[in-house]
Amino acid sequence: MRLAPHRQERYAVSMATPQSNLELRSTVHADGRLQLNLVSVPVPQLGEDEVLVKITATPINPSDLGLLLGPADPASLTASGTAEHPVLTGTIHPKVLASLAARVGVSMAVGNEGAGDVVAAGPSLRAQALLGKKVATLGHSMYAQYRAVPVDALMVLPEGLTAAEGASAFVNPLTALGMVETMRLEGHQALVHTAAASSLGQMLVRLCLEERVPLVNVVRKPEQAALLREMGATHVCDSSSPEFATQLLEAIDATGATLGFDAIGGGPLAGQILAAMEKSLSQKANRYSRYGSATHKQVYIYGALDLSPTTLPRTLGMAWGVSGWLVMHFLGRVGGDAAARLKTRVAAGLKTTFATQFAKEISLAEALDADIARAYSQRATGAKYLINPNR
Ligand SMILES: NC(=O)c1ccc[n+]([C@@H]2O[C@H](COP(=O)([O-])OP(=O)(O)OC[C@H]3O[C@@H](n4cnc5c(N)ncnc54)[C@H](OP(=O)(O)O)[C@@H]3O)[C@@H](O)[C@H]2O)c1
Repeated sequence: MRLAPHRQERYAVSMATPQSNLELRSTVHADGRLQLNLVSVPVPQLGEDEVLVKITATPINPSDLGLLLGPADPASLTASGTAEHPVLTGTIHPKVLASLAARVGVSMAVGNEGAGDVVAAGPSLRAQALLGKKVATLGHSMYAQYRAVPVDALMVLPEGLTAAEGASAFVNPLTALGMVETMRLEGHQALVHTAAASSLGQMLVRLCLEERVPLVNVVRKPEQAALLREMGATHVCDSSSPEFATQLLEAIDATGATLGFDAIGGGPLAGQILAAMEKSLSQKANRYSRYGSATHKQVYIYGALDLSPTTLPRTLGMAWGVSGWLVMHFLGRVGGDAAARLKTRVAAGLKTTFATQFAKEISLAEALDADIARAYSQRATGAKYLINPNR
């Protein structure tokens, strides 16, 4: 529904339309340089059902890093330019460059999710009703001062929440919920999760405790194991321990897990998880089969923390699968009503189940500082950075 012309004029007066808009861009050049810079882009014109969000909190997630800096060697990063127009340059290995042909010369906007204040609204009543609200949104180009967002892509943050508390309201919470929903949809009873001390992993620990879903957490350092145990996790296996294979088998045996979500992807871990599931099932079987257990075992690779090849042993029987998993595909699979139900649940739990801790808040210009970029590109436990483009 549109407002009558005289009403539009009245609301137009209340809109604090900004005059300028800085946006962070990442460009791969044909000679193997990756460059980040800040460009001045027009303040977006609003459609009927759109609002203008002043972005004040947007996380640097591993998936953002893939586009932002991913292909460049962090050690090669150097800063140049001026305080007003900083430039960060890195070098891409020629082998990696060959796989990036489609983005060579394209100045790409970055940032999958963020939060801030609605400072202007299109003429529809739905859009006008959001003026002045604090909102979170999922989309693209969030590393910008202002972003036009369709009303349907917004989550109004509950009263009292800051933008930082709402900045990670989509990607990780919906993935944690998606893992539990996938488990139920596909008839499994427990989960294995890797890189389990990640921000997402910590959400999953809280969610599985609430939902009474047995969860096997795989981490790679003793301090990460201690952190998850302190949060109440029962099954935590440390892949750096000489006892890892035994720990994993015992945890899978105790939970009956036949579904794993692996954020690492490369290396032997996905195969080790499937092998432990198969061993556990075979040991419990009352009859030998040369084909192994008939129960389907599945690992979804949902991250790319290690880009080396995924290696699988050939002791998995014949009922197993390894495939990719993306939260957007999952939301498409369950449909709009289920997705809306999950978002409502996230909004209610942003200070608790789905809370994210940030190590540091930085400005757009600081994101182009070489030392800061090396720090946030580590993807380390407890080291997630938050950009405030309006800082
Ligand atoms: N497919 C999807 O739809 C989807 C959606 C959301 C998130 N994700 C993925 O979920 C993962 C976690 O995201 P997040 O935002 O929670 O990350 P995060 O908070 O930045 O944490 C990253 C974690 O990964 C660990 N890690 C980094 N490199 C590793 C490696 N090579 N081997 C083993 N562990 C490693 C870190 O442990 P250390 O301290 O030991 O380095 C840290 O605990 C990411 O891979 C992300 O891409 C995927």
